[in-house]
Amino acid sequence: MGVVLQYGKTKGQDNLLELLYKMQCEEHRPPTVALEAGPSKMSILMSPGAQMALASFALMCVNATDGIPTIFSIPTFATMSAPLVDRVHRGLCVDVDGEGTIPESLRNVLSKWTPDDAKNPKSGIPRILWLNPSCSNPAGVTTSAQRRKEIYSIAHEYNLLIVEDDPYYYLQENQPRIPSYLSLDVDGRVLRFDSFSKIVGPGLRCAFVTGPEAIVKKMEYAYMQSSQHVCGLSQIIIYKLLKKWGSTGFEAHIQRVVAFNRERRHCALAMADKWLKGLAEWSVPTGGMYVYLKVYGTGLKSEELNERLMEAHKVAVVPASGFYPRGAKLTDVAVLRISTSMADAEVMEKVMKGLSQVIQEAKTAYSKQKTDRADIVSSENCM
Ligand SMILES: Cc1ncc(COP(=O)(O)O)c(C=O)c1O
Repeated sequence: MGVVLQYGKTKGQDNLLELLYKMQCEEHRPPTVALEAGPSKMSILMSPGAQMALASFALMCVNATDGIPTIFSIPTFATMSAPLVDRVHRGLCVDVDGEGTIPESLRNVLSKWTPDDAKNPKSGIPRILWLNPSCSNPAGVTTSAQRRKEIYSIAHEYNLLIVEDDPYYYLQENQPRIPSYLSLDVDGRVLRFDSFSKIVGPGLRCAFVTGPEAIVKKMEYAYMQSSQHVCGLSQIIIYKLLKKWGSTGFEAHIQRVVAFNRERRHCALAMADKWLKGLAEWSVPTGGMYVYLKVYGTGLKSEELNERLMEAHKVAVVPASGFYPRGAKLTDVAVLRISTSMADAEVMEKVMKGLSQVIQEAKTAYSKQKTDRADIVSSENCM
């Protein structure tokens, strides 16, 4: 106890780092483990949440240059498209469909440059590819194995660093899980972010970064000047849990978490079928904890729809417009993220029923508004 209450090593507690290193090797078989000691060799750093690690990494890039052109799949995790990254990194957007990030869309974004431009510091070519490949937040989409290979090969061609923001990796229902970018990383170009938030508890603020030693070391220096290290108690809790479980127990725990999320998500999808048919479109994810709704033809913004839901029905969803970096246009569509893990069947029914009412009312008002406007225009034309 005395040890965990003392200041500790910034990188993390040795015994936990050792376990995590083993876990990454077993789960991802990263080719970078076999590299000679050097800048690309795989290294691990504990972080007080993946969010903190992502934000520190973003700030680090800003310090290094004056904002690095970064490509995001959209919609993207809000924190990353929020003012910090949005303002300082010139965000470029790649489209996502039901199979995840679309490689052709990435090629399209990069088509303004040639791979040789990567050698020119002034070319303005993107340097970072920010991906959230499994059960993404907010779209709930998992990028297929084939696409991951294609995307990795494009990143290799254009010398992009891949930020693999993957806290929902273990929430995939695909068995075996779709291999991560880390597992494809022969070059040392993947910086991977794992978190215990979605598989143990977010209050522990315990996550870890895996990637090339040179970058991980810089992040460690940044933490020395800020958080110092992850709370010692959180680290020891995670260590004891992992130690007690072993890899078989860990997998059994993961399958319980997956089953819990599957039940909640299926319940949300059934309620969407019951209440929102014809009123909204939604994703049908194969894992994770989000269902993503698109609502057309209400004339309302995502935030306005949510406000009406809260006022009339005392429940809330997440207006997902913030998941689009500046520059990405949302025209006549409200986007809403429903977190399925937090609501039991009763609450979920309240949410979906409430949504159906506010959407119906808004659509009726909007089409009346349009008809009234058309009547005014046609009566003005008659005069
Ligand atoms: C895509 C994504 N990355 C990172 C995080 C942050 O996770 P943590 O709780 O470890 O900070 C979240 C949290 O919801 C997320 O959805």
